[in-house]
Amino acid sequence: MVGLRFAGPMSLHGRDVISIRDLSRDEIEELVAAGRKMVPYAEGNKITHPLENKIVAMAFFEPSTRTRLSFESAVQRLGGSCLTIADVSATSMRKGESLSDTIRMLSSYADAIVLRHPNEGSARLAARVSDRPILNAGDGAGQHPTQTLLDLATMQEAFGTLSGLKVVLLGDLKYGRTIHSLAYALALFGAELVLSSPPTLPLPPEERQELEHMGARITEEPEIRKAVQDADVLYVTRIQKERFPDEAEYRKVAGTYRIDSSVLSGAKSRLIVMHPLPRAGEIAAEVDSTPHAAYFRQAFLAVPVRMGLLAAILAPTRKGG
Ligand code: NCD
Repeated sequence: MVGLRFAGPMSLHGRDVISIRDLSRDEIEELVAAGRKMVPYAEGNKITHPLENKIVAMAFFEPSTRTRLSFESAVQRLGGSCLTIADVSATSMRKGESLSDTIRMLSSYADAIVLRHPNEGSARLAARVSDRPILNAGDGAGQHPTQTLLDLATMQEAFGTLSGLKVVLLGDLKYGRTIHSLAYALALFGAELVLSSPPTLPLPPEERQELEHMGARITEEPEIRKAVQDADVLYVTRIQKERFPDEAEYRKVAGTYRIDSSVLSGAKSRLIVMHPLPRAGEIAAEVDSTPHAAYFRQAFLAVPVRMGLLAAILAPTRKGG
C-alpha cells in the first residue's frame, strides 16, 4: 500500500452504518479524525489505495449530487471501483423487482452497498438481507449518518473541538434526515441546541425527548436573528418538499426563512453557516463570500470523511483479515 497506513477505527470493519446511533461517541471521534487525515488524499496530493480490488455499489433510488459523487470520488481515491445505480427507471425495479432482491443481488456483485431510498427503514431492511456492509446514504425522512460525520468534521475543523458548541438547527426539522442524525450526534458531544423551525415542521417530539434524556440543553427560537446572536454554528436546511403528503401544506411554509448578510449582522464573527445542500433559496448568494460561509468546505469534506469511513469498513485489517 502506498502512503497511508491508518484505516480508521478497527471496530468498524465489516459493519453496517444505518443510523448515527450505530456509532459510539469514540467511534464518531475517530472517524472525524480519520477524515481529517484523508484531506491530502482527497485532494489528490497524496496517494493511498487500501480499497484496491474492492467494489462498492452505489444504489441511489432518490436524487443525489453530492452524496453519490463524493462517495464515488472517495472509493476511487482509495483505489476501489464503483457500480452505480443512479436512475431507478433503468433497473429491474421498474419491472417490479423488490428492494430486498435488488440488494441481495448487489451484495453478490460488490463488497459494500451505499443505499439511498425514499422509504424510512429501507436501509435497515437492506442490512437484514445483505451479507455485505450497508451504508445508509439517506432513508426517507429517517437518517443520514455519513452526512453527520462530515458535518462534525466541518465543525471540528472550524473550532478545533466538538464540545460545548452552540448550534442553531434551522428549517425543516420534521422531515430533514440530516437533522435527525446530526441532532443526536451533537447531543452526544454536549452541544447546546437551538431549534428554529416553522411551527408545522418541529423536531419530532420523541426525538427531542431522547436528546433531553441524553442531557442535551435544548431551546426553541423561531426568530432567526435572535437564534444566531451568540451561536457558533447556524445549520440551515431546505424544506423537504418531496416528503410533504400535501403540496398545499408545503406552499404554506415555502420561502418563510432566508439567511442574508443582514440576518448575520448581529452574529459572532466566528459563526459558521452550514447547509447539507442543495439550497433552494434559504441562503442568499451574498453570504457565500463572507467568512461565515462553510457550506462549500462542508461539501468538500464529504470526500475525505467518506474515505476514512470506507477504509475503516472495507480496508484489509492490519492482521490481513
Ligand atoms: C440532503 C439529503 O439528501 O438529505 N442532501 C445531502 O445529502 N447533502 C439534504 C437535502 O436534500 O435537503
